[in-house]
Amino acid sequence: MRIAAQRVGREVHVRQPSELVQRLSRSERAGQAARPGPEVVRLETGDPDFATPPHIVQALGDAVEQGYTHYAQFQGDPELRATIADQLTRKSGTPWTADEVTITNGGSGAVYSAMVGSLNAGDQVLMPQPTFSLYGDVAVSIGAEVTNVPLDEDYHLNLDALRSAAGPRARMVILVNPCNPTGAVFRRDELIALAEFCVERDLLLLADEAYDHIVFDGHEFVSALTLPDIAERLVFTQTFSKTYAMTGWRLGYLAAKAGIAKSGMIVHRTAVGAVNSAVQRAGLVALTTPSDWPDRMVEEYAHRRGMLDELLRDASGLTWRQPQGTFYGWIKYDADVPARAMVPFLLRHGVAVRSGTEFGPGGEGHIRLSFATSRENIREGAQRIAAACAEAAGEGISAAV
Ligand SMILES: Cc1ncc(COP(=O)(O)O)c(C=O)c1O
Repeated sequence: MRIAAQRVGREVHVRQPSELVQRLSRSERAGQAARPGPEVVRLETGDPDFATPPHIVQALGDAVEQGYTHYAQFQGDPELRATIADQLTRKSGTPWTADEVTITNGGSGAVYSAMVGSLNAGDQVLMPQPTFSLYGDVAVSIGAEVTNVPLDEDYHLNLDALRSAAGPRARMVILVNPCNPTGAVFRRDELIALAEFCVERDLLLLADEAYDHIVFDGHEFVSALTLPDIAERLVFTQTFSKTYAMTGWRLGYLAAKAGIAKSGMIVHRTAVGAVNSAVQRAGLVALTTPSDWPDRMVEEYAHRRGMLDELLRDASGLTWRQPQGTFYGWIKYDADVPARAMVPFLLRHGVAVRSGTEFGPGGEGHIRLSFATSRENIREGAQRIAAACAEAAGEGISAAV
């Protein structure tokens, strides 16, 4: 733990960070902050290598010129919220209003605001995992209790496990679909069963659909918005980051009924204020301008997924399954070593990936790679992973260093 030192008068006072920061710093997510050197092929980050489509970039400049340089409304640009509400209405077949949408600082801002706005300390949060690590960190910040619920062997939902994990203080289930990190796209039947379980146990369903556009092979993507009887308990989070390659713009939203969008707005307003006015106008253009950019990006991801399949399907020392969605590959390796140790081992072999356990205990024995990077990086990185996993399986990682 780094300790901040501050000079007060002539004495230096050593300040411990808050207990919360100390807890958060112990999460594996925090431990991955170091940047690898230039010789390393970087397959660890979920940041698309595409530039943001030019019409969206142009819209930002236009908005600044038109004077969108002042504070925005705390809940977000009214026109953007109304457009999102219309799109949600069309998608779900049930009415959504602009009042039920809060614009946030990326999908992360949406998740944080939604959770802090609707959970209390001691509430139980059920997390089918492996799953994106942010939810656990936010739960820790609230003092809510996380229960990791294993997915099935094929990375699909295990409703029996969810049922038996739910205690008297169960309040929320969190599902990311398509799933970061496994790449699974959940089927309609399991999602309907999940919605029924939420109704039965009076739970909120936080549905994070950051990768809803990145689905391969004609797999049907079923949005939680379309599930029966869920509207009043749905906490829907979305981001512009992945579909439009806008990670650095920090634009996302939270949509929920029963006052939850408003509660989220109060949390967001307190933490960061309103989102950048001109960026919200550019977001409006992203949503309303017909464009083949998002599909072209998915086509390229599909090509890269095919390359990975060729490079890894017969590799020894690991098991590769093609993801159904997202731009992540979830690899099970054979070596009998913890995922946390596998990451520095792979780094020494010139490739950066994420430890499976960053996504929950169910990620042990796995690593996650991202193919939101160039074909060249993917070819070289996959070859290095295959060589390192074969070596580790044969000789163990200490012998293979
Ligand atoms: C499932 C999921 N939700 C939310 C986010 C956060 O998105 P943003 O960059 O818009 O904050 C990510 C980022 O990787 C993600 O994987």
